[in-house]
Amino acid sequence: MMPQPQTPPAHVGLLQIMNGIFVAGAVSCLAQLGIPDLVEAAPKSAQELATQIGADPQALYRLLRATASVGVLSEGPDGKFSQTPVSAVLRSQATPSLRAFAIMSGREWHGRGWSHLDYCVRTGKQAMEQIYGVPIFEFLKQHPAESQIFNDAMTELSMIDGPAVAEAYNFAGIRTIVDIAGGHGLLLATILQMNPHLQGTLYEMPHVLDGARSGPLMPVMERCTLASGDMFSSVPAGADAYIMKHIIHDWPDDRCVQLLQACRKGVNPGGRLLVVDSVIQPGNDFSPGKLLDLQMMIFPSGCERTEKQFRDLFAASGWRLNRIIPTAAPDSIVEGVPA
Ligand SMILES: C[S@@+](CC[C@H](N)C(=O)[O-])C[C@H]1O[C@@H](n2cnc3c(N)ncnc32)[C@H](O)[C@@H]1O
Repeated sequence: MMPQPQTPPAHVGLLQIMNGIFVAGAVSCLAQLGIPDLVEAAPKSAQELATQIGADPQALYRLLRATASVGVLSEGPDGKFSQTPVSAVLRSQATPSLRAFAIMSGREWHGRGWSHLDYCVRTGKQAMEQIYGVPIFEFLKQHPAESQIFNDAMTELSMIDGPAVAEAYNFAGIRTIVDIAGGHGLLLATILQMNPHLQGTLYEMPHVLDGARSGPLMPVMERCTLASGDMFSSVPAGADAYIMKHIIHDWPDDRCVQLLQACRKGVNPGGRLLVVDSVIQPGNDFSPGKLLDLQMMIFPSGCERTEKQFRDLFAASGWRLNRIIPTAAPDSIVEGVPA
């Protein structure tokens, strides 16, 4: 008789799930210390790396051994640690890189936010104001070092989903596009590079726009305008399309309606609304969006939405949901046309 595969007991599965926080913490620390960059050229021992970064060799060895146990670095028989495909993604110059994203998840504000998830669930409110007295984007404005990490993390995510969006959508009928709250501009830069006929505008908060001036848009700056402001007060008018990635999921319905109505008012006849976000499928299926949704509950005050929720949001703002276009990334493009 063939041996039957054994299902691990439920407590083993649960311990694995709970250990996820140790894995994330260790990988975040590895990224913060810059170790993946230091082992790119050749394997190194904990002692060598500790001398390079000014760390305790034994403590560093324990960190490296822990991350190697989950495939982030590999320990050789000589005790030296070498790069693996996963650790390579944590290098600062990797494409895509997730170094800033990993660092961000280890920041104090991030950890404190997650430790308040029960507060968010009990009250339906976001945690940042409870902890720091200000909402997330105000907190970032007041803390330039954290803002830099956050903006870099957003740019890193755009290295992955930017090309996926630019490839999935046909921009042929569009001449002018505004990227609402587009961070440092990598999504817009990717779209402009792939569509030489397009003119773009990056719209952002003033302190974020400062970082965009020397950022990814530089090679296409002759076809791009930078505009700063508060998207809830006004948006640049007269565009054929408004695109917003990871914006609608940051906000509750009433703020989204306010923003989408402003875009409706500003859009040229026959124009488009392009919302790039996860579209949640009801049921038990795994999707990253269902976990990201908790992040939206803790830090801003938004949520990931189902198709029906997007349809209702669009209808309340003068738009009609025309179609949902999947991309090679977990996000979809939810396309609106004037109702
Ligand atoms: C989750 S990030 C997404 C950035 C970018 N769209 C991306 O996908 O990488 C949200 C962005 O919204 C911007 N933002 C927040 N409140 C804003 C406001 N009132 N007006 C303009 N931009 C705002 C933030 O500065 C931040 O860059």
